[in-house]
Amino acid sequence: MCESRTQTVFGVGNRQADWLIVGEAPGADEDRQGEPFVGRAGKLLNPMLEAIGLKREQVFIANILKCRPPDNRDPAPAEAASCRPFLERQIALIQPRIILAVGRIAAQNLLNTDTPIGKLRGEIHFLGAARIPLVVTYHPAYLLRSPREKRKSWDDLRLARRALTAAPSAAT
Ligand code: URA
Repeated sequence: MCESRTQTVFGVGNRQADWLIVGEAPGADEDRQGEPFVGRAGKLLNPMLEAIGLKREQVFIANILKCRPPDNRDPAPAEAASCRPFLERQIALIQPRIILAVGRIAAQNLLNTDTPIGKLRGEIHFLGAARIPLVVTYHPAYLLRSPREKRKSWDDLRLARRALTAAPSAAT
């Protein structure tokens, strides 16, 4: 993919963030600007975060893939696997208190499952040995196409906020 992409899109945001948002892969706008979620989907992600009192600058935003797949096709498992060490390192450095996986690709890759997203959302999962709480919600690009699902997504965001409040903080 490095042959067809303009630039690598590693991630953006607060490196001490409590929240890590993980999406799928850069699209055309992200590939051009070098920042995740700056296109149409990003324009919906921002108010989703604001709905639970978060500014974009407060969180860290990354993707499963760091390079744009040609024609925005779904990431192949081997591509997700090659980018995984970068995401693992991001998680280790940021040490988020909550991970929000947006969309099927992010959720299934992070949780290493092929369970449909409808069954993964609505509950708190725990990632890795550090057992970081992880909540799954719909991708904003899907919500743009299916606005009636927004309500479920707001429920997921509130669940994530509750999971963070319930989790012990590093400071205590
Ligand atoms: N969709 C994603 O999953 N990530 C982006 O960065 C942009 C769109």
